Amino acid sequence: MTRIIFSILALGLAFSAAAVDLTDAQRAAMEERIKPVGENCMVGDSSCGGAAAAASSGPRSGEEVYNAACMACHGTGAAGAPKLGDAAAWADRIAKGTDVLHNSGLHGVAGTAMMAKGGCMNCSDEEVIAAVDYMVAGSQ
Ligand code: HEC
Repeated sequence: MTRIIFSILALGLAFSAAAVDLTDAQRAAMEERIKPVGENCMVGDSSCGGAAAAASSGPRSGEEVYNAACMACHGTGAAGAPKLGDAAAWADRIAKGTDVLHNSGLHGVAGTAMMAKGGCMNCSDEEVIAAVDYMVAGSQ
C-alpha cells in the first residue's frame, strides 16, 4: 500500500518537473492558447492572465514581452509590421516621438493588424511600454 502511494507521489513529481521544463517558445504558444480566457478578464484585473502571468513575479521585461507577444509580427514583418532591427522601417516612426509610439503600443494603430497591446490582453500597460522601448532601442 505504501509503495503504491509512493509511486503515485513520484509520478506527480515527475509531472510537475516536466511542467517546469517548458521552453520559452512553448510558454509563448501556451499563452497564445489560453488567451481567449484572458480576454474575458476585466481591464486592470491583475489576477487575470493565467499561469504564465501568475508565475512571474513583478512586471516582465520589454524583451520578455516582445518575445511572448510581439515577435510573431515584429520579428518577421508579418502583416506589414516594422521589423525589430530594421532601422529604415522604424526611422519615420521613431521621429513621431516616444509618446506616440507608446500610445500605438497600448491602443493599436487603427485600420492595421496592430491591435491594442499587440493583442496581449494579459500584458500590463507598463509591460507594453517596456516592449515598445525594447523594439525602439533595437531598431535605431
Ligand atoms: C498581429 C501582428 C502584430 C503584433 C502581434 C504586434 N504588432 Fe505592432 N504592429 C503591427 C503592424 C502591422 C504595425 C504597422 C502599423 C502601421 O501601418 O502603422 C505595427 C506597428 C507597431 C508600432 C509602431 C506604431 C506607430 O505609431 O508607428 C509599435 C510601437 C508596435 N507595433 C508595438 C507593438 C508591441 C509592443 C507589440 C507586442 C506587445 C506588438 N506591436 C505586437 C502588427 C503587430
